[in-house]
Amino acid sequence: GEVSMNGYDHYMLKEIYEQPDALRNAMRGRLNDQDATAVFGGLNLTPQQLRSVERIILTGCGTSWHSALVGEYLIEELSRIPVNVEYASELRYRNPPIENNTLVFGITQSGETADTLAALNETKRKGHRALAICNVVGSSIAQASDGGVYLHAGPEIGVASTKAFTSQCCILAMLALYFGRMRHMSFETGGRIIEDLRRLPSAVEQALTCDAEVRKVAEKYESATNVLYLGRRYNFPTALEGALKLKEISYIHAEGYPAAEMKHGPIALVDKITPSIFIMPRGTTYDKVLANMEEVKARGGPVIAIASSDDTEIRKIADDVIMIPEVPEFLQPIVSVIPLQLLSYHIAVLRGCDVDKPRNLAKSVTVE
Ligand code: AGP
Repeated sequence: GEVSMNGYDHYMLKEIYEQPDALRNAMRGRLNDQDATAVFGGLNLTPQQLRSVERIILTGCGTSWHSALVGEYLIEELSRIPVNVEYASELRYRNPPIENNTLVFGITQSGETADTLAALNETKRKGHRALAICNVVGSSIAQASDGGVYLHAGPEIGVASTKAFTSQCCILAMLALYFGRMRHMSFETGGRIIEDLRRLPSAVEQALTCDAEVRKVAEKYESATNVLYLGRRYNFPTALEGALKLKEISYIHAEGYPAAEMKHGPIALVDKITPSIFIMPRGTTYDKVLANMEEVKARGGPVIAIASSDDTEIRKIADDVIMIPEVPEFLQPIVSVIPLQLLSYHIAVLRGCDVDKPRNLAKSVTVE
């Protein structure tokens, strides 16, 4: 390839380690301390149009759909604008009613995904604004959209998306700040969010130091045939993303679920050889997720916790614990996905899989 691997064994690993820098690039020039808000040059909308947005639809495929789910939590919590998340491949045919003053964002790393392009074109045909959150400059979706935000994450070569996911989440957090500050959010809250965002790259750097711990877990579970990923709120999309990463490059069947949904069915899958990975950094739902974990343990299932670094109690319950630095809940997916990316990477390597070019998959899916 044209992009060097820089001493890493695979592009995917290189891209995992590029995440602190990718986040810095996503934020560069976009945080404004003076007004405690974010700035975007390319939305191509007047302040009046932006203030009158009453609904946001986020659409995409695969990992980009997972970041859309994170975006739903972010924008609804921080800006109080109702958000719908749609699979791009369904948006067009489901034909949901779209009111005036609705903004549609297509989220895409490559900018070439046919389903996402079709969804945005259909949106425009119906007279709504279609914006893009995109990595590849000048790509088909970048050109087709009315405006948008570039990730500036640099080329992503590994078929399994890593730095694009965390960059997309970061852009969505900044958009949530931006829309929030146009509405009810105080200057003080905006300022605090900016501080939290600025601390994020070093938190991700710290999260990357879990690699040796993750590798041990990978060795223990490399021959699993099913893995469950469980998390709540902001960490529910992270659970979906962790499961997708494992499926894509290790060919191990995995399911992501909201932790509390477990008891409504998937708990029947629990047995001695099916590990459950709980993404449970400290936060609003910690106690409830802990109770879900105890239920799984009681049924003989191995449990792995992705937990806050000061959570020493969890070691008494979980079979394995991977520690991640503490960040506010709205930024947790960006930090908690790191060990999940590394876990799928190490398991794939141990199983002798082609990490950067998994079977049956292409980097961008240009057919509908
Ligand atoms: C992610 O690991 C996948 N390879 C895939 O789901 C991908 O996210 C999806 O095809 C969307 O791609 P895009 O972001 O380039 O539109």
